[in-house]
Amino acid sequence: MTAALPSAAHLYERVRMVIPPIEWPAFVDDIDAILALKRERNAVILAHNYQTPEIFHCVADIVGDSLALARKAAETEADVIVLAGVHFMAETAKLLNPDKTVLIPDLDAGCSLADSITADDVRLMRQRYPGVPIVTYVNTSAAVKAESDICCTSGNAKAIVESLGVPRVIMLPDEYLAKNVAAETDVEILAWKGHCEVHERFSPADIRELREAHPGVTVLAHPECPPDVVAEADFSGSTAAMSDYVARKKPARVVLMTECSMSDNVAVEHPEVDFIRPCNLCPHMKRITLASIRAALEENQHEVQIDPWLAGRARRAVERMLAI
Ligand code: 13P
Ligand code: SF4
Repeated sequence: MTAALPSAAHLYERVRMVIPPIEWPAFVDDIDAILALKRERNAVILAHNYQTPEIFHCVADIVGDSLALARKAAETEADVIVLAGVHFMAETAKLLNPDKTVLIPDLDAGCSLADSITADDVRLMRQRYPGVPIVTYVNTSAAVKAESDICCTSGNAKAIVESLGVPRVIMLPDEYLAKNVAAETDVEILAWKGHCEVHERFSPADIRELREAHPGVTVLAHPECPPDVVAEADFSGSTAAMSDYVARKKPARVVLMTECSMSDNVAVEHPEVDFIRPCNLCPHMKRITLASIRAALEENQHEVQIDPWLAGRARRAVERMLAI
């Protein structure tokens, strides 16, 4: 008699390109437990494009960039949302679902951009530039969002800036995103000095070396990369835009100048595309594991709580963005 296969077994087909067979058995128990816990608790897992393939392809219900995760969080009917991503993403989900349980599996899953600015800093900017609207990247705390007029993501930053119909805006806190958007619009953009510790490490020399080593390679860069990197790339866009680009154009060879798991996750969908993989790991995204997601669902940890007054003001900035 053949033993019953664990329910995770068939999922290996999805990820066999990026997870060696020797590693798979270590994931099976947690995957089975998470699938059962989701049913028991009427929970959904929202996973960012930078989550590892065993999370992204085997337990997540909704995947995408920060904008898609915010939109889908606003639509879900589940009782519990587990955010497989970083803390600001879980806060955004909570802002949009004040009555639901929102869990972040690791409280230390932060973000160098969110850490680069405080609510006091935003108040000072407003005093210094009275009347200039403040556009805040979603990679910020709820307290910073609460001081802002509207949020943006890398997927809609230009559209948000232009929607305000003014000649000048403040865009916080990512200096490079602000400069990359400024290069594409007539609106004057005042920037802050925050940087993503993952994307600031790419350089134009990296791209030139790649082009020499892999002739014909298509280079896609996230707009958190420095402007001279974006200028050397063939395309720049949010993680979802990069993924769509590969799906639409099917380049023979591609490199994604972004976090490492992104290439793995997209490669699974496009086995015919050759992914060249210099990449940088985000240590914050990597704090989320199958084990921490399982513990989150088993122990109801760590529940995101936001002061209701502050949440009301921060929600306004996120909802204004979602309305555009
Ligand atoms: P996206 O909105 O493009 O997914 O970016 C989020 C992020 O943290 C990139 O570093
Ligand atoms: Fe923050 Fe950069 Fe990590 Fe994205 S990749 S979560 S911007 S540190």
